[in-house]
Amino acid sequence: MTKEVLGAIQLLRLPFPNKAFVLSLIAAGGLTGLTLLAQSGSTPALGGVAFLRPTDLSVLSGDRIWLIARGGAASSVTLDGEEIAVSRPGPGAIEARVKAAPGLHSLTITSNGTTAEVRVFLKAAGVEPPAGWSEYKVHPPGTACNMCHVPNGDRWALRGGTASTSCYACHPKDQLAGKHDNALQGLPASHSFDNLVRCQACHDPHGSTAKALLKATGPIRCALCHGR
Ligand code: HEC
Ligand code: HEC
Ligand code: HEC
Ligand code: HEC
Repeated sequence: MTKEVLGAIQLLRLPFPNKAFVLSLIAAGGLTGLTLLAQSGSTPALGGVAFLRPTDLSVLSGDRIWLIARGGAASSVTLDGEEIAVSRPGPGAIEARVKAAPGLHSLTITSNGTTAEVRVFLKAAGVEPPAGWSEYKVHPPGTACNMCHVPNGDRWALRGGTASTSCYACHPKDQLAGKHDNALQGLPASHSFDNLVRCQACHDPHGSTAKALLKATGPIRCALCHGR
């Protein structure tokens, strides 16, 4: 395997490409590196435990919390301190729809002494959510995990290989570029939409409290993709 391919795979496994790697991509011919990135499809290696839906400080409607988490077979999930039953649709993937009363709740997932927590508020008549909490929007409503995922050995891989290819099934590629003119404003000209194949650098594929399911509001910062 060439250095570029190894580098491209490494990029997919890191939450953010680091500066050294971007430099190595440039050394390898920049766009060639990116084309390989688009084709080398695999899901990032399973790391520690985390909640992927909802996000911390989310306001939810209805009487159930629909959660998605990452965690191995030994991980356990609690709602307000009580362990809850979950389904495990594939390696490292956890889903549950758990009934909960209106008001504040805490969800935790623990494995090998590592714990992640999110706090949520189920809407209640006459009760305001705490200041600074926001309405959480699920993406896309009613879609099963296997629209985007497929178990592959010990990986919970992406159908179609990469985030972008799994998105194009429902968001045709040729209609997306024009809609990203605003998002790309201020970035170097080499950063055309065709090159930004990691949709999840900016969007949360499971849902978000921000407009357009963005991970964060405000201008797109260089640090989003270039180290931190
Ligand atoms: C619209 C497409 C889509 C749907 C539907 C979807 N996911 Fe995902 N999921 C993704 C993408 C894209 C990533 C990679 C995100 C990243 O790397 O930041 C991901 C990542 C994950 C991960 C983390 C994998 C890892 O190795 O870190 C888990 C676990 C997961 N999804 C579980 C689920 C479960 C369970 C469902 C169904 C309830 C689901 N997803 C539905 C697109 C989707
Ligand atoms: C199974 C079909 C399907 C797949 C696959 C899919 N989406 Fe969607 N997506 C939808 C639907 C339907 C909506 C509209 C939902 C709504 O109106 O809230 C949507 C809405 C969105 C929105 C919000 C648009 C807005 O203006 O609020 C974004 C952003 C988005 N999708 C990104 C992605 C990304 C990124 C992926 C790949 C990880 C993806 N989608 C994969 C069906 C899909
Ligand atoms: C650099 C950050 C970034 C990346 C990477 C990115 N997006 Fe977006 N996307 C945005 C922003 C910001 C908006 C909102 C645009 C606006 O409101 O002007 C958006 C809007 C959208 C919308 C809603 C468009 C509409 O108004 O109907 C969809 C769907 C979408 N993106 C899908 C994708 C997919 C699929 C990918 C990967 C192929 C992707 N995005 C990659 C930042 C990004
Ligand atoms: C959505 C992800 C993303 C964002 C945001 C982003 N970049 Fe990049 N950038 C990349 C990737 C991937 C490459 C490597 C591929 C290439 O060389 O085109 C790259 C390459 C570069 C390069 C080397 C190639 C060139 O264009 O000369 C420079 C310089 C650069 N980025 C600067 C910036 C600056 C400055 C910002 C903020 C204003 C920024 N980038 C924001 C993803 C991003």
